[in-house]
Amino acid sequence: MNANGSNGAGGGSSFEAPARLAGLPPYPLAAVPDIKARLRAAGEVVYDFGVGDSGLPVPDVAVETLRAAAVDPSLQGYGFQRGLPRFREAAALWMARRFGANVDPDSEILPVIGSKEAIALLAFAVLDPGDTALVPDPGYAPYFGGSFFAGARIVRVPLLRENGFLVPPDRIRQAPGRLRLVYLNYPNNPTAASPDRSYLEEVVSACAERSAVLLWDNAYSEVTFDGYRAPGLLEVPGGRETGIELHSFSKSWNMTGWRLGWATGNSEVLASLRRVKTFFDSGSYLAIQAAGAAVLEDSERWTKRTVERLQTRRDAAVPAFRAAGFDLEVPKATLYLWMRVPGEEDSESFCLRMLEEAHVVLLPGSALGEGGEGYVRASLTLDSDLFAQACARLGQVL
Ligand SMILES: Cc1ncc(COP(=O)(O)O)c(C=O)c1O
Repeated sequence: MNANGSNGAGGGSSFEAPARLAGLPPYPLAAVPDIKARLRAAGEVVYDFGVGDSGLPVPDVAVETLRAAAVDPSLQGYGFQRGLPRFREAAALWMARRFGANVDPDSEILPVIGSKEAIALLAFAVLDPGDTALVPDPGYAPYFGGSFFAGARIVRVPLLRENGFLVPPDRIRQAPGRLRLVYLNYPNNPTAASPDRSYLEEVVSACAERSAVLLWDNAYSEVTFDGYRAPGLLEVPGGRETGIELHSFSKSWNMTGWRLGWATGNSEVLASLRRVKTFFDSGSYLAIQAAGAAVLEDSERWTKRTVERLQTRRDAAVPAFRAAGFDLEVPKATLYLWMRVPGEEDSESFCLRMLEEAHVVLLPGSALGEGGEGYVRASLTLDSDLFAQACARLGQVL
């Protein structure tokens, strides 16, 4: 494999990827798309629980607003980092309704092109080379990616079942070196761990003790079940001073491809991120920000519709996977079931075998970091009856 992460011969090109890229982990399960295509071409049904995208409808108001905004001449230019005032105001009002936080739409709301880019670029806004970045393992790839490209010393903290898949606050207090950035994501991808506010209070004080910036990635804040309420950084003492929180339209409002979110919190960190972004992007499309504002203005309605559908899927999926032989807890939030690999296989071999033999796509835990080994992730991507069919097939080959 070359530094591009591919096995291609390169078509005679003399291009050589920079040596730096060799430090990136290889792309896991690169073979999956080809296997899926082969199975489908042979007329087989493939049950794909791999990707973190519910596939549920986007809010009607997003489509209606975008349709009108797409022909509004005032919304066709660069958005730059300030973006659309209506969007920033809607995000600030939503923060007030949801978290009781008083947020200044000018200095404390930064529109982002989906939270992924902001996660990665935040590393350049916070870290000097050699500074320590604390990254959960398993965890979302750009935590590692951003810190890696920024030349940080990356300390991975394993998410262990015995700790409820939480990063223990003492791991923050005791992190080696000059700790500057702590990435945390709860409700969590992939483990679905869903702590309460007291955990967030503890990690805020641990970060403050170390003068480290906390990134509280709240991408799943509204994808919650059974009355669980995800906490927010701005509702805990010292939260606003200690870091920033990211919100995304991808999961709570099913708008993955629209690429929209916002960062909020410490205005100096936001200003630094804004400055970095000025050199990388020109902001998200203003018509999409108009659609995002319209969604936020009536967000509870759209969230409810999504969560009800996901809860029905979850309630079908959990017993179906258990009956097939998997060990898993009932998630209180997120799109994910985090399940132990039954038997002794490593998670990648297991997932490849499940794809070939049962035609079911699962994500190996190792794809999200070494700490994920021993687990697989299934996303709530399909409707309830399809979980039953897929799990019946899995049960036959386990
Ligand atoms: C933990 C976490 N944060 C952020 C995101 C990114 O969302 P987006 O870039 O689509 O806003 C994801 C997507 O899977 C995620 O799992």
